[in-house]
Amino acid sequence: MAKAIVIYFSKSGNTKAMAQMIAKAMNEAGLPTECKAVSDVSADEIFGYDAIVLGSPTYYGQMAAQLKQLIDDLVSRHGQLDGKVGAAFTSSGNVAGGNETTIMGIIEALLISGMIVQGDPKGDHYGPVSIGKPDKKVETQCIRMGKRIAELTKTITA
Ligand SMILES: Cc1cc2nc3c(=O)[nH]c(=O)nc-3n(C[C@H](O)[C@H](O)[C@H](O)COP(=O)(O)O)c2cc1C
Repeated sequence: MAKAIVIYFSKSGNTKAMAQMIAKAMNEAGLPTECKAVSDVSADEIFGYDAIVLGSPTYYGQMAAQLKQLIDDLVSRHGQLDGKVGAAFTSSGNVAGGNETTIMGIIEALLISGMIVQGDPKGDHYGPVSIGKPDKKVETQCIRMGKRIAELTKTITA
């Protein structure tokens, strides 16, 4: 059976709250999904999942170094994420604070790994964004994303 993981780095809890919302929605949509801080995940264990969702606070318009380190640690098995589903989300301090560049930076790494990334024509196009603590609107986007990733992953792995 397909399974997924949501991995996040979070210092003050905003990105963690988003991660939990997304993972909950994925589980409720029928895709068994774990939710782990990046410090609790080894590079090797990632390869056992069919879908990998990565979240980071926006730091200077980019992902935090802690998440980038995990991505860099995947290089010894480069190519083995080919065809898996990937997605990204972020929390930032400001509306135009570089949140979309952060998401795109994560997505670039997913694409370089051969992963399948689905955009969203109606919701947050690249992935959910929260300005500070997630509110109801952000929760809606996280749930929407979780459902869409779960449906895509179930379809691909059926
Ligand atoms: C080192 C550092 C760099 C940051 N850079 C940005 C930035 O470029 N743009 C922005 O909008 N917020 C920036 N922030 C604010 C965080 O993205 C924001 O507080 C976020 O919600 C923190 O997420 P967390 O609660 O998951 O740790 C920065 C914060 C830190 C600590």
